[in-house]
Amino acid sequence: MIRRGSSADVVDVRWEVLRPGRPRETAIFPGDDAGFHWVDEEAGQVLAVASVIPAPWPAEPLTPTSGLQLRGMAVSPAVRGTGRGAMLLVAIQRDLAAPLWCNARADVLGFYARFGWRVRGGPFDVPAVGPHHRMTWSPP
Ligand SMILES: CC(C)(COP(=O)(O)OP(=O)(O)OC[C@H]1O[C@@H](n2cnc3c(N)ncnc32)[C@H](O)[C@@H]1OP(=O)(O)O)[C@@H](O)C(=O)NCCC(=O)NCCS
Repeated sequence: MIRRGSSADVVDVRWEVLRPGRPRETAIFPGDDAGFHWVDEEAGQVLAVASVIPAPWPAEPLTPTSGLQLRGMAVSPAVRGTGRGAMLLVAIQRDLAAPLWCNARADVLGFYARFGWRVRGGPFDVPAVGPHHRMTWSPP
């Protein structure tokens, strides 16, 4: 079941999936307290998480207001490839219905593209993580 959560709800899956082997603090992002968080939970166990954090548009603004960055999209390895990432992303796009941007790992561009995201340049390197491309999404 997908529900809105707090930054505390998302940190452990983020840490496991996106910052393995690094200190837990690296999974706490600047702006988390002002962000919006979603979790996919079954029987009290958080299986997938994603967040949207207010952050300036990195290039040309898509709206006159400040940007919104999708961050920390992470599905636990045991349930990966079973549609949970898709459900989470669709829920976020539906709930916010506002333009979003993200820095997408090069090996997941195809995932975001399935849900209407477009590559906006790159690649660029994120130290200790790898190559990324900037992507954006606007409501249809
Ligand atoms: C990327 C991730 C969030 C996708 O979530 P998931 O639950 O595994 O994906 P889903 O099962 O919902 O897949 C939905 C669709 O996207 C496709 N897809 C999934 N991962 C993909 C990828 N890396 N590249 C291209 N397509 C992908 C699936 O084949 C599926 O397509 P279908 O509907 O035609 O069957 C998840 O695999 C993950 O957490 N990966 C590791 C962390 C990561 O890279 N996060 C993103 C950081 S930018």
